Amino acid sequence: MKTVTVNASKTYDIVIGEGLLSESGARIRALHPCKTVVVVTDDNVAKFHLTKVVQSLEAAGYNVLTHVIPHGETSKCREQYFALLDFMAERRVTRSDLLVALGGGVVGDLTGFAAATYLRGIDFVQMSTTVLAAVDSSVGGKTGIDIPAGKNLVGAFYQPILVLCDTKALETLPESVYDDGCAEIIKYGCIADKELFEWLKAPIRPQIERVIERCVSIKRDIVDQDERDTGIRVILNFGHTIGHAIEKASNFTITHGQAVAIGMVLIENAMFRLGLAPKETFEATRDLVAAYRLPVKTSFTSDELYDTMTTDKKRSGDRLRFIVVKEIGACEYLDVAVGEAQEGGITLRNVLEEALQ
Ligand code: GLY
Repeated sequence: MKTVTVNASKTYDIVIGEGLLSESGARIRALHPCKTVVVVTDDNVAKFHLTKVVQSLEAAGYNVLTHVIPHGETSKCREQYFALLDFMAERRVTRSDLLVALGGGVVGDLTGFAAATYLRGIDFVQMSTTVLAAVDSSVGGKTGIDIPAGKNLVGAFYQPILVLCDTKALETLPESVYDDGCAEIIKYGCIADKELFEWLKAPIRPQIERVIERCVSIKRDIVDQDERDTGIRVILNFGHTIGHAIEKASNFTITHGQAVAIGMVLIENAMFRLGLAPKETFEATRDLVAAYRLPVKTSFTSDELYDTMTTDKKRSGDRLRFIVVKEIGACEYLDVAVGEAQEGGITLRNVLEEALQ
């Protein structure tokens, strides 16, 4: 069992270990004296884990309400958001009660946003059941929903009071969903931790507890400094600038993890080809990504990706910021011009053309 403590606007623990879902009632009881707990989950996760969580919460003396949403990104929408608020209001859930997000990123983001806004904010706990949620979305307080204009365009920074990551629950994931989350793990190795990058060359499942601890410790250090994402937190976007464009261009048939995997490899290829990073860094990134059965290239053209990237929400004026890795374990910013280059500067067109070679 491992614990990482976040010191952002709230101080809270992320606990990682086997069997935590069955202990969730006692762990929450030690923190929260409320009467009613609302557990939000999706239909897939409910089949595997809802009963044990409800039993554990009831054994700890809570009155438990459950709200099950359909699985998948389409549930991160205004209809499900309002349905959850109505569910709580109709059952007279009060500000001193508690919400629990049992699931992956969709359940966590939706439930967190409902917690941030219901009665102007009630406490919530994240119980992550995917690798992606364990190492990324359950930590750091980004909550929100999608609207037709784009993903995550409505949301709030709102920290949970506790994050539980039961590594046994991860064993129920399909292989491809497990691998998908590993793209974010590789990202942490590339941007911040050469030793983690080396660990990942060995099978991941037997060492998943220490790997998750390492990833969330890196994220914790970043969130502690920049909770509201105005500075260093941007480094968590390594691989995401091209990755988001691929996800969007594919109409989300390419998953987030696959898109980030391609995005990391492509930006490192561009860096090597532009003479800004050694070939070894590109090759090491590409080889590790491939070892996790994740894709390393795309059939989208530079024009297709360019159009999507010029509407990226991280764009600032006529510049777009890429995170680049020169040596595995450390990263830097590279600002590129979206239109014409300033005197010998690099443009988005240059990056994309080299990335796709
Ligand atoms: N997923 C990136 C962040 O939390 O900032």
